[in-house]
Amino acid sequence: MSNRILVSECVAKVGEQVIVSGWIHARRDMGKVAFFDLRDASGILQIVAVPAELGEGAELAQKLRSEWVVTFTGTVQARGAKQINDKISTGTVELLASSITVLNQAKTPPFELDQDTRQINEETRLQYRYLDLRSERLQKNIRLRDQVVTFFREYLHAEKFVEIETPLLTKSTGETGAREFVVPSRLHPGNFYALPQSPQQFKQLLMVAGFERYFQIARCFRDEDQRGDRQPDFTQLDLEISFVEREDVLQLVEAMMIAMVKHCTPEKKIQQIPFPRLSYQESMAKYGNDKPDLREDKADPNLLAFCWVLDFPFFEKTETGGWTFTHNPFSAPKSEFLADLMAKQNINNIMTTQYDIVLNGYEIGGGSIRNHQAPALKAVLEIMGLDEENINRRFGHMLEALDFGAPPHGGIAPGIDRIVMLLANEPNIREVMAFPKDGNANDHMLKAPSPLSDQALRDLHIKLI
Ligand code: AMO
Repeated sequence: MSNRILVSECVAKVGEQVIVSGWIHARRDMGKVAFFDLRDASGILQIVAVPAELGEGAELAQKLRSEWVVTFTGTVQARGAKQINDKISTGTVELLASSITVLNQAKTPPFELDQDTRQINEETRLQYRYLDLRSERLQKNIRLRDQVVTFFREYLHAEKFVEIETPLLTKSTGETGAREFVVPSRLHPGNFYALPQSPQQFKQLLMVAGFERYFQIARCFRDEDQRGDRQPDFTQLDLEISFVEREDVLQLVEAMMIAMVKHCTPEKKIQQIPFPRLSYQESMAKYGNDKPDLREDKADPNLLAFCWVLDFPFFEKTETGGWTFTHNPFSAPKSEFLADLMAKQNINNIMTTQYDIVLNGYEIGGGSIRNHQAPALKAVLEIMGLDEENINRRFGHMLEALDFGAPPHGGIAPGIDRIVMLLANEPNIREVMAFPKDGNANDHMLKAPSPLSDQALRDLHIKLI
C-alpha cells in the first residue's frame, strides 16, 4: 500500500487526506458515531466513523470487530482541547474516515489485547504468543531489547571489535555444570553434535587466530532445571579480548553498561559509579549469596545497583570427593596461585580470575582471564581428575591450539535476556523474549518437544528405550 502512512505520522498532517492501516484495537459506539482505536507498529490513532462521511461504508463500520485488519482513508483533524488524550502519542489528532477497506477478519482473540496480559494464564499466552506480542507491554519489551542489542553492537564495533558467528552444531564444551542438548548425526550413525552452552572455546580459538577483539550476539543452549531467569535457549553478548588483564575487561564492560543505560533507559539511575567491587568471601559473609541486591531503595523501579563480584575459589569438592571447577575450566588462576595450580597443591585456596557482574540481585554476566598456556589448562583438567585419554579426547584441540602461540586473553558474556528483563522491570526473562518456552521447557505454540516418526528415527539410526 504505497501511500499508507503510520499513525504516528498523522500528528503532523492536520487537514490532510491520508491512508492508514492496522488492527482494530478497540471500538466505542456513541449512537450513530463509532470510534475506533486503530493500532499499527507506531501506536494508536482514534478513527471517527460518521455515516455522513462514510456513505456506503457506514454499514461496514458496524461490522468491524477487534483485531480485524483494516485500511482507513480520511482527513486528519485536530482534537478540541477537551478531547486531547495524553495517554496516546497521537492524542492531539484523530482521523475522520471517508472510506474503509477490510484486509482481513479476525476471530475473537482468546484474551484481550488492549489490556495488560500479565494476569492471563501463561499457557494460553504462550500458545498464542503472536497475539500476546501485539500487547503494548510486550511490544515495548521486544523493542527495548532491539535497542539494547543494537547499542552493544554499535558500541563494540566503535571499540574495534569484530562480530563473528560460531557454529551451533558443535561438540560438548563441558564448561558449565549444565547438561547439553545433543543433535544426532544422520551421516555418522551413533554420533552426536552438541549445541553450545556458550561459544567459549570458539572465542578463545579466535584469539589464537589473531582477531584480538571478538564479539557475538550468541545463542546458547543449556538443558538445566528452569527458573524465572533461565531458559533452555538464551542469548549472550559474548566477547573476548587479547593482551588484557582483569582490570581492562572490567573497565570496558563497566563503561559500556553505563553508556547503554544512559542511551536505552535514560529514566534509570545507576546507584553507584564506579560499580562497587566485592570479593566472593565478602559477598557471602555480608549478604549470604554471591549476587547481592545492593539497591538502597528496592521499591524504586528506576534504580540500578550494579556490582562486581571477584576472587572466587577456583575449585570446589564434588560429591564423590574429587574436585570440580566453580565457574569455568578455561579460567586462569590469579597469578599468585599459578605455582600452586601447576604443582596441584593447596587446591582449596586457589583463586580464579573469574569476575561476575551483578545487577539488582541477578548475575547478569560472568567471565575471566584464561589460561593461555597449555600446561596450565592441563593442570586444571588433571585436578578435576581427568585422565590423559579423557583430556585428549575432550580438550586435545584446545591444548593443541594454545601451543601454537596463543596470546594472553580474557573475556566475558553478559546475558542479554536478564539485562533486558531488569531494564523492563519484568519478573522473568520470558517477558523479554519473543518466543520463550514455559517453566518446563515446553513450547506451547509449536508443541515442542515432540516425538519423531518411526521413519525419521530410522534415518537417524536411533532406537528408543
Ligand atoms: P556463564 O555460564 O556465567 O558464563 O553465563 C554468562 C551469562 O549468561 C546468562 N545465562 C543465562 N541466561 C538465561 N538463561 C540461562 N539458562 C542462562 N545461563 C546463563 C547469565 C550469565 O551471567 N562462557 C562463559 C562466559 C565467559 O567466561 O566469557 C559463560 O557462559 O546472564
